[in-house]
Formats: sequence, structure tokens, C-alpha cells
Amino acid sequence: MEPLHEPVYITVAFAQYGEAGKSDRGFDLKYSREENPTVRILEGELSTLECGRDALTFNSGMAAISCLYLSQLSAGKEVVLPMEAYGTTIQLAEELGKFGVRVKLAYPSAESLVEAIDEGTSLVLVETMTNPTLKVIDVPEVVKRAGEVGARVVVDNTFSPLVFRPLEVGADAVVHSLTKYIAGHNDVLGGAVILGSLDVSGLWQWRRMLGSIIQPVEAWLVLRGMKTLEVRFERQSRSALAVAEFLSEHPKVGAVHYPGLRDDPYHETARRLFERDLYGGVVSFEHADGRAEVLRFLRSLRKIFPSPSLGGVESIASYPAQSAAKVMPPERRRLLGITNGLIRLSLGLEDTDELIEDIDRALGGDGD
Ligand SMILES: Cc1ncc(COP(=O)(O)O)c(C=O)c1O
Repeated sequence: MEPLHEPVYITVAFAQYGEAGKSDRGFDLKYSREENPTVRILEGELSTLECGRDALTFNSGMAAISCLYLSQLSAGKEVVLPMEAYGTTIQLAEELGKFGVRVKLAYPSAESLVEAIDEGTSLVLVETMTNPTLKVIDVPEVVKRAGEVGARVVVDNTFSPLVFRPLEVGADAVVHSLTKYIAGHNDVLGGAVILGSLDVSGLWQWRRMLGSIIQPVEAWLVLRGMKTLEVRFERQSRSALAVAEFLSEHPKVGAVHYPGLRDDPYHETARRLFERDLYGGVVSFEHADGRAEVLRFLRSLRKIFPSPSLGGVESIASYPAQSAAKVMPPERRRLLGITNGLIRLSLGLEDTDELIEDIDRALGGDGD
């Protein structure tokens, strides 16, 4: 009997008579905090997606990043991060300072990261596209510099699954928040580390000790989501481009950040790095009237849900100054262009014209 869908192994334990059984990659298959066959199916799919050697999945993107830091960093080691990396990624690295880990933050450009990386650097973690201002980092340049000093490079590819494969340009591992595009339905948290040259056993031990493996039902939900990743990402990218073009012409809108726009300062880099001429479903823009009008805009939306997440089938609007960037020092926010008027949209699968109508109406301030 061969089922159409993957089986979900909802079990804590597996039979053990003396020596434990082994998973397909040779680790003990006896206890679901260590290995689980449904989780292994998901890890196989993610390895294929990123052209990796193997993968480990976790109960959130942050659990994946925690495990990665703990396996790679120790007292005296230095990690280099772009200063616009996901806030909790920076915060966690800084917290590890109490164990002697050193953190160096650089402006999110290949030039600044290359300048920051030196003989003292052990690990570089970069995101392909920054959030919320969507600066595209020339990852191959960073990989090249890290290689010169023997530092590992891990790329958080959450914003560009399918269109960019960091392992192919020499990154040592890829991180994903599966919560976003890969699962894609705003209903499950998950994270992954996909391995290039990094060794699986160190990370596997840390995951086992931290107890942060993804649960089988959640793994199955991610697997189900992945089946439509390609069609979702394409549709979301097309909607985002249409919305970005609409916003660029709107009198109440200042700067629009979207690397798919031909005149965006990051378009050329994105076009060179990303396949398929697709740039993702996230667009950011400045409401010319600032904070009070942003709040009015968010309240006026009818189709787009106000929330801090992204990458799912439902469109979402978020206000970075009040969410991800809230804890960022004001000086850094200014440098990165995260103003009080900045709004981030994540376009879902709703009708594009209806989304544009919703945005247009909310910019007019109707609907309170
Ligand atoms: C780029 C990026 N990496 C990692 C994370 C953390 O993922 P999670 O929320 O699944 O822990 C996020 C969350 O927003 C993110 O945007």
C-alpha cells in the first residue's frame, strides 16, 4: 500500500531491542526529540530545495538560529551580522556576549560586510534581502571575503526561497524561517538549517540537547505548504511588483522599496543573483504623512491584515517602527531609512486588483 501523502509519525518513541534502530542518515531512531521519519521527509525536501547535503528542522526559525550559534560560537569567537538582520537574530548574538562571544554589526552592503570581516571573524550570518527596507546583499562578495580569512558564511534565505541558492555560491549553510514562504499559510512555525560544508553531527547534538526539533504534525504542515511554494511565490512576486508600481505613482507615497522595480537601487544586484525575474511578495513604502496617518492606514485596510509576519497566503501590513524595529537604536534606524512613515506589505494570494483597491482606499483614509 502506497499512500499519496507522507505519513505522520505521531509517536514519542520507537521500539528498541538492545541497539537502537537507525534513521536513514545513521543517527539513532529511538526517540522523537532526536529523529522522526516525518521530520526526515521534510529535511529531505529542504535539502533538495537548497541543493544541500542534509538538513535539520526546528520548531521555529529562531530555534534554528540558536542551534547554529551554539554549535559555531564560543568564548572569544566573533560573529559578523548586517545591522538590519532580523532583530532577534541580532539580540540573541548580543546576549551570547555574556559567554564571551563578540558581535560586530556592519551596514547591510557587501562593501561594509567585507570591510568588517577579518582574521578574528568565525561566523558571518547574512540575509539575502534586508527587512524592512529590502536592500539586496551581494552574497558572493561576502562569501569570497569570508573564505580569505577562514570564516563560515551562513545565509538566511527566508526572503528568497526558490530564486536564490546560497550553497551554490559557496555559503556553508542556509537558514530558513519555514514559518514564512516555505510553509506559507500563516498557521505553523518552523525553522531549518540546510547544510553545505557544515557538519551535521555537531548541530544534531545541539538540537537534541536543546530539544528544539520540529514536531511531526508541524513538519507535515510545512511539507503540505511546500507543495505549492512555486505557484505561491510566483503569484506573490507578481502581485508585489504590481503593488510597488502602483505605489510609485501615488501622491501620498514617498520612497518605495522593492528590488523588482527597474529603478530600485538594488534591482541590478537582485537580477544578477535571483533566478526567474521574481523578487518576492514583500514591498515597503513610506507614507508621506508619517505616524498618525500610518496608524489610520492600518485601521482602514479591509482585505490586508495588520500583523508582523510575512510570506503567507493572506496579505499582511506591518508597521516596522512599532514592531521589528521598535527596539532598534534611533541612530541605526535613521541610517537604515526605517522612518516613522514606513509600512511593510506582504502580498498574499488575493486578487491583485482588489489588493490595490484596498491600499488606495486606505491611503485615502476611508473606512474608519
Ligand atoms: C529573516 C528572518 N529570519 C528568521 C526569523 C525568525 O523566524 P521564526 O519567527 O520562525 O522564529 C524571521 C522572523 O520573522 C525572519 O524574518
